[in-house]
Amino acid sequence: MTTDYPSAAPDERATELARVRAVHAEQVRRGLSLDMTRGKPCPEQLDLANGLLTCISVADVREAMGDIRNYGGIDGIPEAKALFGDYMGVGSEEVIVGGNSSLALMHDSIVNAWLRPVPGAPAAWGKLPNIAFLCPSPGYDRHFAICESLGIEMIPVAIGADGPDMDEVEALVAERSDIKGIWCVPRYSNPTGIVYSDDTVTRLATMKTAAPDFRVFWDNAYAVHHLTEQVRPLRNLLRACEQAGTADRALMFGSTSKISFAGAGVSVMASSPANLSYQKKAMSVQTIGPDKVNQLRHVRFFGDLDGIHTHMRRHAEIILPKFAAVSSAFESLLDAARVATLSRPEGGYFFSLDSVPGTAQRIVDLAAEAGVKLTPAGATFPYGKDPNDQNIRLAPTLPGKAEIAEAMEVICNSVRYACLETLK
Ligand SMILES: Cc1ncc(COP(=O)(O)O)c(C=O)c1O
Repeated sequence: MTTDYPSAAPDERATELARVRAVHAEQVRRGLSLDMTRGKPCPEQLDLANGLLTCISVADVREAMGDIRNYGGIDGIPEAKALFGDYMGVGSEEVIVGGNSSLALMHDSIVNAWLRPVPGAPAAWGKLPNIAFLCPSPGYDRHFAICESLGIEMIPVAIGADGPDMDEVEALVAERSDIKGIWCVPRYSNPTGIVYSDDTVTRLATMKTAAPDFRVFWDNAYAVHHLTEQVRPLRNLLRACEQAGTADRALMFGSTSKISFAGAGVSVMASSPANLSYQKKAMSVQTIGPDKVNQLRHVRFFGDLDGIHTHMRRHAEIILPKFAAVSSAFESLLDAARVATLSRPEGGYFFSLDSVPGTAQRIVDLAAEAGVKLTPAGATFPYGKDPNDQNIRLAPTLPGKAEIAEAMEVICNSVRYACLETLK
């Protein structure tokens, strides 16, 4: 079929649907078992960091900070604070280097605010009748899960090529004092891959908020995860907030989960002096200190920020062909039908696929019948509900290139199938 589906005649579409159904039946018969759900590094990426397992000696751990095999050092070892301060684009005194998960730091920052007033807050969030967060969508499902677990109202905000729709954000935060935060994945957003523009960052820092204790949760999980040579710049939120006199607004997070070992890396938080001392106080109730041995391993293994960048170029060499496999399959197998658009990520871990409204759930089901597991439809929206039922996140890093090609055949045919049914 040469014409695009929306402008094809009804009988042409019926013939095409019969063809696509037959392809689907054949795919089901093949009985594939492929998984494109979560953004996990592949074994080859993990192997790049195997040196972490052997790069420190007994003498190293004895000498660092008077013996890091023992308790202490709530905000991390000085060497790690220097490295991850550089990583976050701030000074070593402006960071806390934590345990293995930045998501845990974000979760705990919200729970702390729930229990005790954050700097500038009139009351602990848990004492207030309603708390709401702005959720640029499609976004990261685990951010939304934190809000949902605490009963925080989630307000979806559209996200475009430059970040969230700032007119919408400014209007909402100016009016409602129960809106206490916004989730942001600023460079290589999960899942759309967009990078926040300077103007967006400036507006987030300068906007008037009805809540004096409003926070920007700046989850820079993919800060150095570039796929192209031409790196897109990102304005430093903490610096922008300092300039605007809103330094306490910025809570920046990052981790090495997608740099070294996922779930066995190092996390980091950067913020204002007031927020850091608040956070350290809360943390020291929870723990006697982070895993400093793992922090030292990371410092020894990477050396400095250039070491991290060099390492990430090796990651890109491994995953770029996989991203290319997704893009080229989409272009050759689906684009002409004019029923879906695919993001063009320049970094990060995901593709975002938008199809005809009302088809995402059906596509996920059809792909599952043919043995391809996709992220549940709706997962990229608050409460797991995509109001248009049209967005699907694709995670291409874990499967091999050949598997991706097979999975994309199934996905593209499933999109055709579901869209033809809907157009009919
Ligand atoms: C946007 C984003 N933030 C945080 C995480 C998890 O980070 P960590 O492993 O440091 O908890 C992920 C993992 O997929 C992510 O995509």
